[in-house]
Amino acid sequence: MILDVIILAAGKGTRMRSSKAKVLHELAGRSLISHVIGTAQQLQPRQVAVVVGHQADEVQASVASEHAWVLQRQQLGTGHAVAQAMASLAGDGVVLVLYGDVPLIDIQTLVDCCAAAAAGQVGLVTADFVDPGELGRIVRDDRGCIRRIVEYKDANDEQRAICEINSGILAAPASKLTNWLSAIKPNNAQGEYYLTDIIAMAVADGVEVAGITALNPVDVTGVNDRAQLADLEREFQRRQAHRLMLAGVTIADPDRIDIRGEVSIGEDSFIDINVVLEGQVELGRGVKVGPGAVITNSHIGDRTQIHAHTVIEGARVAEDCSLGPFARIRAGTELADGVKIGNFVETKKAKLGPGTKAGHLAYLGDTQLGADCNIGAGTITCNYDGVNKNITTVGNNVFVGSNSTLIAPVMIEDNAFIAAGSTITSKVSDGDLAVGRGKQRNIAGWVRPDLRKKK
Ligand code: UD1
Ligand code: MG
Repeated sequence: MILDVIILAAGKGTRMRSSKAKVLHELAGRSLISHVIGTAQQLQPRQVAVVVGHQADEVQASVASEHAWVLQRQQLGTGHAVAQAMASLAGDGVVLVLYGDVPLIDIQTLVDCCAAAAAGQVGLVTADFVDPGELGRIVRDDRGCIRRIVEYKDANDEQRAICEINSGILAAPASKLTNWLSAIKPNNAQGEYYLTDIIAMAVADGVEVAGITALNPVDVTGVNDRAQLADLEREFQRRQAHRLMLAGVTIADPDRIDIRGEVSIGEDSFIDINVVLEGQVELGRGVKVGPGAVITNSHIGDRTQIHAHTVIEGARVAEDCSLGPFARIRAGTELADGVKIGNFVETKKAKLGPGTKAGHLAYLGDTQLGADCNIGAGTITCNYDGVNKNITTVGNNVFVGSNSTLIAPVMIEDNAFIAAGSTITSKVSDGDLAVGRGKQRNIAGWVRPDLRKKK
Protein backbone atom coordinates (compact mmCIF):
# COMPACT_ATOMS: atom_id res chain seq x y z
CA MET A 1 0.00 0.00 0.00
CA ILE A 2 1.30 3.45 -0.93
CA LEU A 3 0.26 5.85 1.80
CA ASP A 4 0.33 9.64 2.01
CA VAL A 5 -0.69 11.41 5.20
CA ILE A 6 -2.30 14.82 5.47
CA ILE A 7 -2.21 16.53 8.87
CA LEU A 8 -4.59 19.43 9.39
CA ALA A 9 -3.11 22.18 11.52
CA ALA A 10 -4.27 25.47 10.03
CA GLY A 11 -6.99 26.32 12.52
CA LYS A 12 -6.67 29.14 15.00
CA GLY A 13 -7.46 27.41 18.25
CA THR A 14 -9.30 30.42 19.65
CA ARG A 15 -10.32 28.64 22.83
CA MET A 16 -6.72 28.06 23.88
CA ARG A 17 -6.61 31.84 24.51
CA SER A 18 -2.97 31.90 23.58
CA SER A 19 -0.54 33.85 21.46
CA LYS A 20 0.97 30.48 20.55
CA ALA A 21 -0.48 28.30 17.77
CA LYS A 22 -2.64 25.54 19.23
CA VAL A 23 -0.61 22.68 17.77
CA LEU A 24 2.54 24.10 19.38
CA HIS A 25 1.16 23.65 22.87
CA GLU A 26 2.92 20.77 24.53
CA LEU A 27 1.84 17.39 25.78
CA ALA A 28 4.46 15.49 27.75
CA GLY A 29 7.07 18.04 26.70
CA ARG A 30 6.47 17.74 22.96
CA SER A 31 4.24 19.85 20.75
CA LEU A 32 0.88 18.39 19.76
CA ILE A 33 1.91 18.48 16.11
CA SER A 34 5.11 16.53 16.78
CA HIS A 35 3.09 13.78 18.50
CA VAL A 36 0.89 13.47 15.43
CA ILE A 37 3.80 13.58 13.00
CA GLY A 38 5.56 10.91 15.08
CA THR A 39 2.51 8.67 14.90
CA ALA A 40 2.15 9.28 11.16
CA GLN A 41 5.76 8.29 10.62
CA GLN A 42 5.21 4.96 12.31
CA LEU A 43 2.93 4.12 9.36
CA GLN A 44 5.92 4.62 7.03
CA PRO A 45 4.12 6.87 4.58
CA ARG A 46 5.55 8.04 1.28
CA GLN A 47 4.76 11.63 2.09
CA VAL A 48 3.45 13.66 5.01
CA ALA A 49 1.79 16.95 4.11
CA VAL A 50 1.03 19.33 6.95
CA VAL A 51 -1.59 22.00 6.30
CA VAL A 52 -0.72 25.21 8.13
CA GLY A 53 -2.43 28.57 8.24
CA HIS A 54 -2.58 30.48 11.51
CA GLN A 55 0.99 31.19 12.65
CA ALA A 56 2.25 29.01 9.83
CA ASP A 57 5.84 30.24 10.23
CA GLU A 58 6.04 29.28 13.88
CA VAL A 59 4.49 25.88 13.30
CA GLN A 60 6.82 25.19 10.39
CA ALA A 61 9.88 26.31 12.34
CA SER A 62 9.01 23.98 15.20
CA VAL A 63 9.33 20.78 13.22
CA ALA A 64 12.42 19.47 11.47
CA SER A 65 10.96 19.54 8.01
CA GLU A 66 11.13 16.50 5.85
CA HIS A 67 7.45 17.25 5.30
CA ALA A 68 5.55 19.05 2.65
CA TRP A 69 4.11 22.20 4.15
CA VAL A 70 0.88 23.37 2.59
CA LEU A 71 -0.23 26.90 3.30
CA GLN A 72 -3.98 27.32 3.62
CA ARG A 73 -4.31 31.10 3.55
CA GLN A 74 -7.92 31.20 4.61
CA GLN A 75 -9.47 28.57 6.81
CA LEU A 76 -12.46 27.75 4.67
CA GLY A 77 -13.07 24.37 6.27
CA THR A 78 -11.62 20.89 6.64
CA GLY A 79 -12.63 19.91 3.09
CA HIS A 80 -10.85 22.93 1.68
CA ALA A 81 -7.76 22.16 3.80
CA VAL A 82 -7.55 18.58 2.51
CA ALA A 83 -8.12 19.71 -1.07
CA GLN A 84 -5.16 22.12 -0.77
CA ALA A 85 -2.93 19.33 0.47
CA MET A 86 -4.02 16.90 -2.25
CA ALA A 87 -2.48 19.24 -4.80
CA SER A 88 0.96 18.52 -3.32
CA LEU A 89 0.52 14.74 -3.33
CA ALA A 90 0.97 12.29 -6.17
CA GLY A 91 -2.75 11.48 -6.38
CA ASP A 92 -2.44 7.71 -6.18
CA GLY A 93 -2.49 5.20 -3.35
CA VAL A 94 -4.22 5.84 -0.06
CA VAL A 95 -4.58 9.16 1.75
CA LEU A 96 -4.96 9.32 5.52
CA VAL A 97 -6.20 12.53 7.13
CA LEU A 98 -5.05 13.26 10.69
CA TYR A 99 -5.65 16.28 12.91
CA GLY A 100 -2.73 18.17 14.39
CA ASP A 101 -4.69 18.66 17.60
CA VAL A 102 -5.58 14.99 18.20
CA PRO A 103 -2.34 13.75 19.77
CA LEU A 104 -3.27 10.40 21.28
CA ILE A 105 -4.57 8.61 18.21
CA ASP A 106 -3.31 5.03 18.39
CA ILE A 107 -1.47 3.28 15.66
CA GLN A 108 -3.67 0.17 15.40
CA THR A 109 -6.79 2.25 14.71
CA LEU A 110 -4.91 3.99 11.91
CA VAL A 111 -3.64 0.72 10.48
CA ASP A 112 -7.23 -0.59 10.35
CA CYS A 113 -8.44 2.68 8.84
CA CYS A 114 -5.80 2.60 6.08
CA ALA A 115 -6.46 -1.08 5.40
CA ALA A 116 -10.11 -0.23 4.61
CA ALA A 117 -8.95 2.45 2.16
CA ALA A 118 -6.46 0.05 0.57
CA ALA A 119 -9.43 -2.26 -0.05
CA GLY A 120 -11.22 0.55 -1.93
CA GLN A 121 -13.44 1.67 0.95
CA VAL A 122 -13.45 4.80 3.05
CA GLY A 123 -12.08 4.13 6.53
CA LEU A 124 -13.68 6.45 9.07
CA VAL A 125 -12.57 6.56 12.69
CA THR A 126 -15.53 7.03 15.01
CA ALA A 127 -16.01 6.82 18.77
CA ASP A 128 -18.85 6.49 21.24
CA PHE A 129 -18.94 9.49 23.55
CA VAL A 130 -21.07 9.75 26.68
CA ASP A 131 -21.21 13.49 26.13
CA PRO A 132 -20.64 14.12 22.42
CA GLY A 133 -20.92 17.91 22.73
CA GLU A 134 -20.70 19.65 19.36
CA LEU A 135 -18.85 16.94 17.48
CA GLY A 136 -20.12 15.68 14.13
CA ARG A 137 -22.60 12.80 14.45
CA ILE A 138 -22.45 9.52 12.53
CA VAL A 139 -25.75 8.73 10.82
CA ARG A 140 -26.27 5.02 10.13
CA ASP A 141 -29.14 3.31 8.32
CA ASP A 142 -31.41 0.51 9.60
CA ARG A 143 -28.79 -2.07 8.68
CA GLY A 144 -26.14 -0.20 10.64
CA CYS A 145 -24.30 1.08 7.57
CA ILE A 146 -22.79 4.57 7.77
CA ARG A 147 -24.75 6.95 5.50
CA ARG A 148 -23.40 10.37 6.31
CA ILE A 149 -21.94 12.71 8.92
CA VAL A 150 -24.00 15.58 10.18
CA GLU A 151 -22.28 18.50 11.88
CA TYR A 152 -23.74 19.54 15.22
CA LYS A 153 -24.69 22.99 13.96
CA ASP A 154 -26.62 21.42 11.06
CA ALA A 155 -28.18 18.58 13.07
CA ASN A 156 -31.76 18.22 14.25
CA ASP A 157 -32.61 17.06 17.79
CA GLU A 158 -32.84 13.42 16.75
CA GLN A 159 -29.38 13.56 15.16
CA ARG A 160 -27.93 15.43 18.13
CA ALA A 161 -29.04 12.53 20.33
CA ILE A 162 -26.63 10.21 18.47
CA CYS A 163 -23.59 9.38 20.62
CA GLU A 164 -21.38 7.98 17.89
CA ILE A 165 -19.16 10.83 16.73
CA ASN A 166 -16.83 11.62 13.87
CA SER A 167 -13.24 11.81 15.03
CA GLY A 168 -12.39 13.59 11.78
CA ILE A 169 -9.73 10.99 11.00
CA LEU A 170 -10.34 9.10 7.78
CA ALA A 171 -8.58 7.31 4.95
CA ALA A 172 -9.66 6.94 1.34
CA PRO A 173 -8.26 6.01 -2.06
CA ALA A 174 -6.59 9.19 -3.34
CA SER A 175 -8.28 9.29 -6.73
CA LYS A 176 -11.78 8.98 -5.29
CA LEU A 177 -11.01 11.50 -2.57
CA THR A 178 -9.88 14.04 -5.17
CA ASN A 179 -13.18 13.72 -7.02
CA TRP A 180 -15.31 14.03 -3.91
CA LEU A 181 -13.35 17.03 -2.61
CA SER A 182 -13.98 18.92 -5.83
CA ALA A 183 -17.73 18.41 -5.39
CA ILE A 184 -17.96 19.81 -1.82
CA LYS A 185 -20.11 22.95 -1.54
CA PRO A 186 -20.23 25.25 1.48
CA ASN A 187 -24.00 24.94 1.78
CA ASN A 188 -24.27 24.57 5.53
CA ALA A 189 -24.80 26.42 8.77
CA GLN A 190 -21.14 27.48 8.94
CA GLY A 191 -20.64 28.27 5.25
CA GLU A 192 -17.55 25.98 5.26
CA TYR A 193 -16.23 23.30 2.97
CA TYR A 194 -16.87 20.25 5.16
CA LEU A 195 -14.59 17.26 4.66
CA THR A 196 -17.37 15.27 6.29
CA ASP A 197 -19.53 15.70 3.17
CA ILE A 198 -17.43 13.12 1.34
CA ILE A 199 -19.06 10.35 3.38
CA ALA A 200 -22.49 10.84 1.78
CA MET A 201 -20.76 11.17 -1.62
CA ALA A 202 -18.99 7.85 -1.11
CA VAL A 203 -22.26 6.19 -0.19
CA ALA A 204 -23.91 7.69 -3.29
CA ASP A 205 -21.06 6.26 -5.40
CA GLY A 206 -21.59 2.82 -3.89
CA VAL A 207 -18.32 2.95 -1.95
CA GLU A 208 -18.59 1.31 1.44
CA VAL A 209 -17.72 3.39 4.51
CA ALA A 210 -16.01 1.24 7.12
CA GLY A 211 -16.44 2.65 10.61
CA ILE A 212 -13.38 1.97 12.75
CA THR A 213 -14.34 2.50 16.38
CA ALA A 214 -11.57 3.90 18.54
CA LEU A 215 -10.89 1.66 21.53
CA ASN A 216 -10.99 4.61 23.89
CA PRO A 217 -12.68 7.98 23.25
CA VAL A 218 -9.54 9.66 24.58
CA ASP A 219 -7.63 8.35 21.56
CA VAL A 220 -9.62 10.62 19.27
CA THR A 221 -10.20 13.54 21.59
CA GLY A 222 -9.00 16.83 20.18
CA VAL A 223 -7.51 19.67 22.17
CA ASN A 224 -9.62 22.80 22.00
CA ASP A 225 -8.84 24.41 25.33
CA ARG A 226 -6.29 24.07 28.11
CA ALA A 227 -8.59 21.96 30.27
CA GLN A 228 -8.77 19.35 27.52
CA LEU A 229 -5.01 19.60 27.11
CA ALA A 230 -4.55 18.81 30.82
CA ASP A 231 -6.96 15.86 30.57
CA LEU A 232 -5.00 14.36 27.69
CA GLU A 233 -1.70 15.04 29.44
CA ARG A 234 -2.86 13.09 32.50
CA GLU A 235 -4.15 10.25 30.34
CA PHE A 236 -0.83 10.11 28.48
CA GLN A 237 1.10 10.12 31.76
CA ARG A 238 -1.11 7.40 33.23
CA ARG A 239 -0.42 5.21 30.21
CA GLN A 240 3.33 5.71 30.54
CA ALA A 241 3.19 4.99 34.27
CA HIS A 242 1.16 1.87 33.56
CA ARG A 243 3.76 0.60 31.10
CA LEU A 244 6.53 1.13 33.63
CA MET A 245 4.60 -0.60 36.40
CA LEU A 246 4.02 -3.63 34.20
CA ALA A 247 7.76 -3.62 33.52
CA GLY A 248 8.50 -3.99 37.23
CA VAL A 249 8.78 -0.42 38.50
CA THR A 250 6.92 0.63 41.65
CA ILE A 251 5.35 4.04 41.24
CA ALA A 252 4.10 5.63 44.46
CA ASP A 253 1.23 7.36 42.66
CA PRO A 254 0.73 7.00 38.90
CA ASP A 255 -1.20 10.29 38.94
CA ARG A 256 1.83 12.14 40.26
CA ILE A 257 4.62 11.35 37.85
CA ASP A 258 5.54 13.26 34.71
CA ILE A 259 7.58 11.72 31.95
CA ARG A 260 8.47 14.11 29.16
CA GLY A 261 10.69 12.07 26.94
CA GLU A 262 11.98 8.55 26.52
CA VAL A 263 12.55 6.73 29.72
CA SER A 264 13.74 3.24 30.55
CA ILE A 265 13.70 2.03 34.15
CA GLY A 266 14.99 -1.30 35.46
CA GLU A 267 13.04 -3.74 37.60
CA ASP A 268 12.53 -3.11 41.30
CA SER A 269 13.11 0.58 40.99
CA PHE A 270 10.91 2.88 43.03
CA ILE A 271 9.64 6.29 41.95
CA ASP A 272 8.17 8.46 44.65
CA ILE A 273 5.58 11.19 44.06
CA ASN A 274 6.03 14.31 41.91
CA VAL A 275 9.06 13.05 40.04
CA VAL A 276 9.73 14.61 36.62
CA LEU A 277 11.77 12.69 34.04
CA GLU A 278 12.71 14.61 30.89
CA GLY A 279 14.46 13.79 27.63
CA GLN A 280 16.45 10.57 27.45
CA VAL A 281 16.55 9.05 30.91
CA GLU A 282 17.86 5.62 31.81
CA LEU A 283 17.50 4.33 35.35
CA GLY A 284 19.03 0.98 36.24
CA ARG A 285 17.59 -1.74 38.45
CA GLY A 286 16.70 -1.09 42.06
CA VAL A 287 17.08 2.67 41.70
CA LYS A 288 15.19 4.76 44.23
CA VAL A 289 14.00 8.22 43.25
CA GLY A 290 12.72 10.41 46.06
CA PRO A 291 9.82 12.87 45.93
CA GLY A 292 10.16 15.97 43.81
CA ALA A 293 13.30 14.83 41.99
CA VAL A 294 13.83 16.11 38.45
CA ILE A 295 16.04 14.02 36.15
CA THR A 296 16.84 15.20 32.63
CA ASN A 297 18.91 13.43 29.95
CA SER A 298 20.82 11.28 32.38
CA HIS A 299 21.90 7.74 33.08
CA ILE A 300 21.59 6.41 36.64
CA GLY A 301 23.19 3.09 37.60
CA ASP A 302 21.74 0.19 39.55
CA ARG A 303 20.76 0.68 43.20
CA THR A 304 21.59 4.38 43.22
CA GLN A 305 19.42 6.40 45.58
CA ILE A 306 18.28 9.85 44.58
CA HIS A 307 16.83 11.60 47.56
CA ALA A 308 14.06 14.21 47.67
CA HIS A 309 14.22 17.32 45.49
CA THR A 310 17.44 16.48 43.74
CA VAL A 311 17.85 17.92 40.25
CA ILE A 312 20.02 16.01 37.78
CA GLU A 313 20.73 17.11 34.24
CA GLY A 314 23.04 15.67 31.60
CA ALA A 315 24.85 13.38 34.04
CA ARG A 316 26.14 9.82 34.19
CA VAL A 317 25.80 8.34 37.64
CA ALA A 318 27.16 4.86 38.27
CA GLU A 319 25.95 2.19 40.70
CA ASP A 320 25.28 2.41 44.43
CA CYS A 321 25.55 6.18 44.62
CA SER A 322 23.54 8.38 46.95
CA LEU A 323 22.53 11.87 45.85
CA GLY A 324 20.70 14.60 47.76
CA PRO A 325 18.33 15.52 49.24
CA PHE A 326 18.52 18.93 47.52
CA ALA A 327 21.55 18.20 45.35
CA ARG A 328 22.06 19.77 41.94
CA ILE A 329 23.93 17.59 39.49
CA ARG A 330 24.58 19.55 36.31
CA ALA A 331 25.68 18.76 32.78
CA GLY A 332 28.89 16.84 32.32
CA THR A 333 28.89 15.32 35.78
CA GLU A 334 30.20 11.74 35.92
CA LEU A 335 29.97 9.94 39.23
CA ALA A 336 31.66 6.56 39.70
CA ASP A 337 30.34 3.71 41.84
CA GLY A 338 29.51 4.50 45.43
CA VAL A 339 29.81 8.27 45.23
CA LYS A 340 27.89 10.17 47.87
CA ILE A 341 26.65 13.70 47.21
CA GLY A 342 24.71 15.30 50.03
CA ASN A 343 22.43 18.29 50.46
CA PHE A 344 23.14 21.60 48.72
CA VAL A 345 26.03 20.27 46.70
CA GLU A 346 26.28 21.46 43.10
CA THR A 347 28.39 19.67 40.53
CA LYS A 348 29.13 20.70 36.94
CA LYS A 349 31.54 19.00 34.54
CA ALA A 350 32.79 17.13 37.58
CA LYS A 351 34.19 13.60 37.50
CA LEU A 352 34.22 11.94 40.88
CA GLY A 353 36.03 8.63 41.40
CA PRO A 354 34.59 5.65 43.22
CA GLY A 355 33.67 6.13 46.86
CA THR A 356 34.28 9.87 46.89
CA LYS A 357 32.00 11.88 49.15
CA ALA A 358 30.84 15.48 49.19
CA GLY A 359 28.35 15.45 52.01
CA HIS A 360 27.13 19.03 52.25
CA LEU A 361 27.19 22.54 50.79
CA ALA A 362 29.85 22.43 48.09
CA TYR A 363 30.44 23.56 44.52
CA LEU A 364 32.46 21.21 42.36
CA GLY A 365 32.81 22.59 38.83
CA ASP A 366 35.30 21.75 36.05
CA THR A 367 37.00 19.28 38.29
CA GLN A 368 38.28 15.76 38.37
CA LEU A 369 38.46 13.96 41.70
CA GLY A 370 39.96 10.52 42.25
CA ALA A 371 38.69 7.69 44.42
CA ASP A 372 37.84 7.84 48.12
CA CYS A 373 38.17 11.57 48.58
CA ASN A 374 36.33 13.42 51.29
CA ILE A 375 35.17 16.89 50.37
CA GLY A 376 34.22 18.94 53.39
CA ALA A 377 31.21 21.19 53.73
CA GLY A 378 31.64 24.57 52.08
CA THR A 379 34.35 23.46 49.66
CA ILE A 380 34.37 25.55 46.50
CA THR A 381 36.28 24.94 43.31
CA CYS A 382 36.90 28.49 42.11
CA ASN A 383 36.75 27.55 38.45
CA TYR A 384 36.10 30.98 36.94
CA ASP A 385 38.64 33.78 37.04
CA GLY A 386 36.32 36.23 35.33
CA VAL A 387 37.56 35.32 31.87
CA ASN A 388 38.27 31.60 31.66
CA LYS A 389 37.03 28.40 33.23
CA ASN A 390 39.91 26.52 34.85
CA ILE A 391 40.33 22.95 35.98
CA THR A 392 40.85 21.57 39.47
CA THR A 393 42.52 18.16 39.57
CA VAL A 394 42.40 16.09 42.72
CA GLY A 395 44.04 12.67 43.18
CA ASN A 396 42.90 9.68 45.20
CA ASN A 397 42.24 9.57 48.92
CA VAL A 398 42.41 13.34 49.35
CA PHE A 399 40.83 15.04 52.36
CA VAL A 400 39.60 18.58 51.80
CA GLY A 401 38.71 20.27 55.08
CA SER A 402 35.54 22.31 55.41
CA ASN A 403 35.24 25.74 53.86
CA SER A 404 38.25 25.42 51.60
CA THR A 405 38.54 27.30 48.34
CA LEU A 406 40.49 25.57 45.61
CA ILE A 407 41.53 28.27 43.15
CA ALA A 408 41.83 26.75 39.71
CA PRO A 409 43.89 25.86 37.85
CA VAL A 410 45.26 23.81 40.68
CA MET A 411 46.44 20.26 41.32
CA ILE A 412 46.10 18.30 44.54
CA GLU A 413 47.92 15.01 44.52
CA ASP A 414 47.04 11.66 46.11
CA ASN A 415 46.73 11.40 49.88
CA ALA A 416 46.97 15.17 50.37
CA PHE A 417 45.21 16.74 53.32
CA ILE A 418 43.88 20.28 53.21
CA ALA A 419 43.23 22.00 56.48
CA ALA A 420 39.79 23.46 56.99
CA GLY A 421 39.36 27.05 55.88
CA SER A 422 42.30 26.94 53.45
CA THR A 423 42.60 28.93 50.26
CA ILE A 424 44.62 26.75 47.92
CA THR A 425 46.33 28.49 45.03
CA SER A 426 49.19 26.16 44.21
CA LYS A 427 49.91 22.48 43.86
CA VAL A 428 49.72 20.23 46.92
CA SER A 429 52.05 17.24 46.60
CA ASP A 430 51.41 13.61 47.41
CA GLY A 431 50.78 13.11 51.12
CA ASP A 432 51.32 16.78 52.08
CA LEU A 433 49.24 18.75 54.54
CA ALA A 434 48.33 22.16 53.15
CA VAL A 435 47.32 24.92 55.53
CA GLY A 436 46.37 28.03 53.62
CA ARG A 437 44.84 30.36 56.16
CA GLY A 438 45.77 33.18 58.51
CA LYS A 439 47.09 32.01 61.82
CA GLN A 440 44.79 32.43 64.79
CA ARG A 441 45.79 35.26 67.08
CA ASN A 442 44.16 35.86 70.48
CA ILE A 443 44.28 39.34 72.09
CA ALA A 444 44.00 39.19 75.83
CA GLY A 445 41.93 41.82 77.68
CA TRP A 446 40.21 43.10 74.56
CA VAL A 447 37.00 45.14 75.13
CA ARG A 448 33.99 45.14 72.83
CA PRO A 449 33.29 48.54 71.14
CA ASP A 450 29.78 48.99 72.57
CA LEU A 451 31.07 48.44 76.06
CA ARG A 452 33.97 50.88 75.52
CA LYS A 453 31.63 53.95 75.27
CA LYS A 454 29.99 53.20 78.54
CA LYS A 455 33.27 53.07 80.36
C1 UD1 B 1 -14.46 18.62 12.74
C2 UD1 B 1 -15.45 17.75 12.00
C3 UD1 B 1 -16.41 17.10 12.98
C4 UD1 B 1 -15.62 16.29 13.98
C5 UD1 B 1 -14.57 17.17 14.65
C6 UD1 B 1 -13.67 16.34 15.49
C7 UD1 B 1 -15.76 18.82 9.84
C8 UD1 B 1 -16.62 19.66 9.01
N1 UD1 B 1 -16.17 18.57 11.07
O1 UD1 B 1 -15.21 19.65 13.34
O2 UD1 B 1 -17.31 16.25 12.31
O3 UD1 B 1 -16.48 15.73 14.92
O4 UD1 B 1 -13.74 17.83 13.69
O5 UD1 B 1 -12.80 17.17 16.20
O6 UD1 B 1 -14.72 18.38 9.38
N2 UD1 B 1 -8.61 22.89 10.00
C9 UD1 B 1 -7.79 23.35 8.99
N3 UD1 B 1 -8.31 24.21 8.07
C10 UD1 B 1 -9.59 24.61 8.09
C11 UD1 B 1 -10.42 24.14 9.11
C12 UD1 B 1 -9.90 23.27 10.05
O7 UD1 B 1 -6.61 23.02 8.92
O8 UD1 B 1 -9.97 25.39 7.21
C13 UD1 B 1 -8.06 21.96 10.98
C14 UD1 B 1 -8.05 22.52 12.38
O9 UD1 B 1 -6.80 23.14 12.67
C15 UD1 B 1 -8.24 21.28 13.22
C16 UD1 B 1 -9.06 20.36 12.34
O10 UD1 B 1 -8.88 20.83 11.03
O11 UD1 B 1 -7.01 20.62 13.51
C17 UD1 B 1 -10.51 20.35 12.72
O12 UD1 B 1 -11.03 21.64 12.60
P1 UD1 B 1 -12.12 22.18 13.58
O13 UD1 B 1 -12.46 23.56 13.19
O14 UD1 B 1 -11.71 21.92 14.97
O15 UD1 B 1 -13.34 21.23 13.17
P2 UD1 B 1 -14.59 20.98 14.03
O16 UD1 B 1 -15.55 22.06 13.79
O17 UD1 B 1 -14.19 20.67 15.39
MG1 MG C 1 -12.18 20.93 16.78
